[in-house]
Amino acid sequence: MERTLIILKPDCVQRRLIGRLLLRFEDKGLTIVGMKMMRVSRELAERHYGVHQGKPFYPGLLDYITSGPVVALVLRGPRCIEVSRALMGKTFGYEAVPGTIRGDFGLSRTYNLVHGSDSPESAETEITLYFKPHELLDYDTADAKAISRPDEL
Ligand code: RTP
Ligand code: MG
Repeated sequence: MERTLIILKPDCVQRRLIGRLLLRFEDKGLTIVGMKMMRVSRELAERHYGVHQGKPFYPGLLDYITSGPVVALVLRGPRCIEVSRALMGKTFGYEAVPGTIRGDFGLSRTYNLVHGSDSPESAETEITLYFKPHELLDYDTADAKAISRPDEL
């Protein structure tokens, strides 16, 4: 089953939106298999956002993601990478469609509440950056059979 790394970013934590954002992913039927509150170090931020090095917004992005606590999550579910990004909406809050997380809660380019991996490769790399293997739980949920059929994936 596919997994993705989600980060509830510093603005989400500062605005007391952790619970409401978690609800979006849980309501959809995705399963939380890892979760921790943490500070992102400069070194971790540089490794995570290395692909953006050299872009004009890179220094501000590093300052922001290291500015306060975040909640890091690993979600599991059918096609959960694209499903999560659809729930998040477009990158900039003022462009994101209402109904999405960023569309409902955001107006900023940088303060966009949430991060989600954008491919299976980046998901596995990012999960390894943020979580040790023993911090991830493999478990069945009681409602799994009512949420999706194994033969339709
Ligand atoms: P994320 O990686 O955080 O999930 O966001 P994303 O895929 O939607 O966007 P990405 O292109 O990967 O950009 C990473 C983060 O950099 C900030 N950003 N600012 N032009 C700008 O001012 C600009 N472009 C990107 C955003 O915080 C974005 O989430
Ligand atoms: Mg990205």
